[in-house]
Amino acid sequence: MNREMVKQKGSKNKVSAPGKVILSGEHAVVYGYPALVAAVDRRLTVNDKLEVKSEIPMGCGMGSSAAYAVAISAMNLKHSGKALDKGKIYESAYEIEKQFHGNPSGADPAISTYGGWLWYRKEAEAVKLFSRISVARKLPDLLLFNTGKPEETTKEMVVNVVGKAYRESQDKVTASLRGIEGVCKAWLRFLTGEEKADAGELIRENEKYLEEIGAVSESTKSWVRKIEKAGGSAKISGAGGVKGASGIILLYYPHMDQFERWSEQLGIDVFKVKLGEGGVRNER
Ligand code: MEV
Repeated sequence: MNREMVKQKGSKNKVSAPGKVILSGEHAVVYGYPALVAAVDRRLTVNDKLEVKSEIPMGCGMGSSAAYAVAISAMNLKHSGKALDKGKIYESAYEIEKQFHGNPSGADPAISTYGGWLWYRKEAEAVKLFSRISVARKLPDLLLFNTGKPEETTKEMVVNVVGKAYRESQDKVTASLRGIEGVCKAWLRFLTGEEKADAGELIRENEKYLEEIGAVSESTKSWVRKIEKAGGSAKISGAGGVKGASGIILLYYPHMDQFERWSEQLGIDVFKVKLGEGGVRNER
């Protein structure tokens, strides 16, 4: 399941599942706060010999492991002669994610299964609520920049980094998680057309809270400060990382017509993704 592609020798029976970005709510969602997530136009494909081909950078916060769990679950259903029931795929992918991550929120397999945009909230292990969002206004273009593969796994970030901070300073971390919830709700009201918002400001604020809970490395913070100084905003998207890189960061620059020159000046190699793409599906 690496970026390198495993050749699929003429198999016609394939399923694919998308990667994701988290606009807001990573880490907070593990503690029962909401997250706003979108499926992207980078997919992972599995054939009936269970060979894997992926366009999703692995272990960088774009949901590669969830897409794998979703695609494998869908292929298992097909093997047993059953239709692609999304509820069943999601439940099975969530169980696989638990093996990888210990205490996942379930947001990643949900968005990879259902696609589009989701408002996601895990109330309890047995109650995972999500609602599809119809985005009522054109979202400002978002760009991604890969700071590199974090040294920590998602599980390590959730349990040993943010989880440790939470166990040691619960009040402080809870205040940051509540801050993230506020940003998440402001995005929701913006996306559904209820309210105006300053996208750059929301991203900056969200990043500040993610830094407070310890999810962002020093080297990534330097990138973010550089981007902010040059008039943009950036936040990690996913679990982040502290020792080295922090995976994908989501970037916003208000003058998109000039973003190529801007990113060149900053020395960052950015790429665009389409948001709100389809969930798990059969491929020919
Ligand atoms: C990982 O993409 C997002 C986290 O919130 C973990 C989870 O939701 O399971 C860090």
